[in-house]
Amino acid sequence: MAALTFLGIESSCDDSAAAVVRLGENGAPELLSSVVEGQAVLHAAFGGVVPEIAARAHAERLDDCVERALTEAGLSLAEVDGIAVTSGPGLIGGVLSGVMIAKGLSAGSGKPLWGVNHLAGHALTPRLTEGLAFPYLLLLVSGGHCQFLIVDGVDRFRRLGGTIDDAPGEAFDKAAKLLGLAQPGGPVVEAEAAQGDARRFAFPRPLLDRPGCDLSFSGLKTALLRARDALVVQKGGITVQDRRDLCAGFQAAVADVLAEKTRRALAVHLAERPAEPALAVAGGVAANKAIRAMLETVCAESGARFVAPPLRLCTDNAAMIAWAGIEQHRAGLMPGTDLIARPRWPLDGRAVPMIGSGKKGAKA
Ligand code: KG4
Ligand code: ZN
Repeated sequence: MAALTFLGIESSCDDSAAAVVRLGENGAPELLSSVVEGQAVLHAAFGGVVPEIAARAHAERLDDCVERALTEAGLSLAEVDGIAVTSGPGLIGGVLSGVMIAKGLSAGSGKPLWGVNHLAGHALTPRLTEGLAFPYLLLLVSGGHCQFLIVDGVDRFRRLGGTIDDAPGEAFDKAAKLLGLAQPGGPVVEAEAAQGDARRFAFPRPLLDRPGCDLSFSGLKTALLRARDALVVQKGGITVQDRRDLCAGFQAAVADVLAEKTRRALAVHLAERPAEPALAVAGGVAANKAIRAMLETVCAESGARFVAPPLRLCTDNAAMIAWAGIEQHRAGLMPGTDLIARPRWPLDGRAVPMIGSGKKGAKA
């Protein structure tokens, strides 16, 4: 088999990214470079990602990301075999910035161009990092997404369930905001929670009383708001320890809900009798140690392998897009410069659309 080298481009939310990935002659993937230019500073004053600011920043920075990715890989554009770009779902202005740059590079260099679903990029990452065989169960938990998918093939995904309102990362971010903590909220809330008592405040465990794998997190944020306000009424404010205990209770509730729904999704996966049952996680929330430990326990209980790619490949990056392009090419899926930017693009076209919208727009 000849080696395959792809340039990937990602710009669906607030990270401008480019990367070069090679599939060696021996079938082993190699990450040659991965450049991610975050935009947190640009959006900090607004309490969330501002789509217009994000789109402009992508348009300004992607050229530089591509150049750096090629330089770090020690290659020129002429030496890559193909280009892959996120063509949705995401904030449309950002996706458009990436697609336009990719089309320009493809037209200028004559290299074929593949459009990649951002979620497919996350979903296929465990194959880049661990060589995981199909089928496997994927839990995608980020600031914009939360879903369970059975990954059957490069372009075959079955959705078992997902959030009906907020994504867990979004809930962590909102919780941090309610407690006057910095953004992104996840790591800060986790650090506070580590010093708190999770049993002091009673948080609900939304949707556990209903069958299936759908999840809900917006009620936890409301519960946090109520508990905070009750403390303010009682004693005029909240202490450092109150805040830690609130964070601990909130995080324990998120972890419990994810654990129970993962148990159910794994039961579906196991009933299909895969040769090597596995749960892979993707998305920024997978960085949370308490949540990760819960998921590892659930996997151990049911004899499934637990796979967590390194964090820099779990959060948004372009290596996963380059890799998905290689996978598509290898599977015989054809490139095309007629690809369009799509704000909404569910991986499982047969699944019932979810209500609600996350920080990245409508839920895919
Ligand atoms: O995957 P990601 O980098 O971007 C999105 O696609 O959203 O995920 C970012 C999200 C943020 O909401 C952030 O608060 C959350 O992941 N996050 C965490 C932790 N680290 C990041 N949530 C909980 N615990 C963490 N340690
Ligand atoms: Zn993502």
